Amino acid sequence: MLGNLKPQAPDKILSLMAEFKADTRQGKIDLGVGVYKDPTGLTPVMRAVKKAEQKIWETQNTKSYTALAGEPEYRDAMSSMVLGALGGDRVASVGTVGGTGAIRQALELVRMANPDAVIHVSDPTWPNHVSILNFMGQAYEMYPYFDNETRGIAFEAMLDGIGKAKKGDVVLLHGCCHNPTGANPTAEQWDAIAESLEKTGATPLIDLAYQGFGDGLDEDAAATRMIAERLPEVLIAASCSKNFGIYRERTGILMTLTNDAKSRDLSQGAMAYLNRQNYSFPPDHGARIVSTILTDDALKADWKAELEEVRQTMLGLRTQLADELRTLSGSDKFDFIARHRGMFSRIGATPEQVARMKEDAGIYMVGDSRLNIAGLNRDTVPILARAIVEAGV
Ligand code: LMR
Repeated sequence: MLGNLKPQAPDKILSLMAEFKADTRQGKIDLGVGVYKDPTGLTPVMRAVKKAEQKIWETQNTKSYTALAGEPEYRDAMSSMVLGALGGDRVASVGTVGGTGAIRQALELVRMANPDAVIHVSDPTWPNHVSILNFMGQAYEMYPYFDNETRGIAFEAMLDGIGKAKKGDVVLLHGCCHNPTGANPTAEQWDAIAESLEKTGATPLIDLAYQGFGDGLDEDAAATRMIAERLPEVLIAASCSKNFGIYRERTGILMTLTNDAKSRDLSQGAMAYLNRQNYSFPPDHGARIVSTILTDDALKADWKAELEEVRQTMLGLRTQLADELRTLSGSDKFDFIARHRGMFSRIGATPEQVARMKEDAGIYMVGDSRLNIAGLNRDTVPILARAIVEAGV
């Protein structure tokens, strides 16, 4: 039976990780997978995470099962972090296996609620969004998003695209730090997006995987909060992988906001049911780290301070890279790198130019020319800048 399986194409981002590891060249630079690295190349365990783990180790006296929806402390703390004071009674939520699990559960929830739903996703989007949709056999359409000339958003085309969504459809939005492009709507553009959703009656599904990596913890949640305030029904898939640096703990959450208690309770029941069908209880350790930090003033302050250091480091690298490219290319065509936010920028190189940078300079980025800014340091920025110009980008 198993011999009948078809070979699966490897995930492009994850296979790049393996290819980088196997490269024996000195000085190779990994700008592939979205993992933060400090200037020494380490993905550190954050200070507050270490302290929270110690606290858990000292106080936890059982590893027995927790709640099917995940621990209420974690879900409440995440609701406050994402939604501020807005959350409250409108929110139903479950802990999930990372942000990917939250997306998957969200799509399954939509399928249960409306088997005819079409999911509208940005072109481009995180490749795994599309992969999951294909795997599920879920109907979807791509809406235009990125302008390859300006490396900004093709906003009119985007609005046209999401305007085609119907009531009962879902529009998948990146709440901040768009992956893979790094180009994000302005506050006015977010208003127009909300207006479009109000008009069509489509339900937004907001993927919030990088809160705190763009303009700040609250700033990065501002669009999500505005949409949550205006729309009667919203789905939010949030991840703690990046902002708490607990990638391997698989810590995510799926939240729904509704305007009536009946929909909220149905949603809560359906999401817990989905957890049971897919994996029973969501992972607890990462969620417990997060709730320990968010409910302890000192730990929270320390975590916020370190997250801010991480954010500032990425912003500094963006500015340095844009400056370096301005000097080397004698033009301002790479200034968009300083304007983009989050871990990624799609620099607009062709697949051949991406391949050339890998072969000639040992620089690894995803084939669509998405580079992970956080994979750089002050010494590697000039090397990358030179490679970009030499490749003729
Ligand atoms: C990425 O886009 O690189 C990250 O979200 C990691 C992943 O799982 O793809």
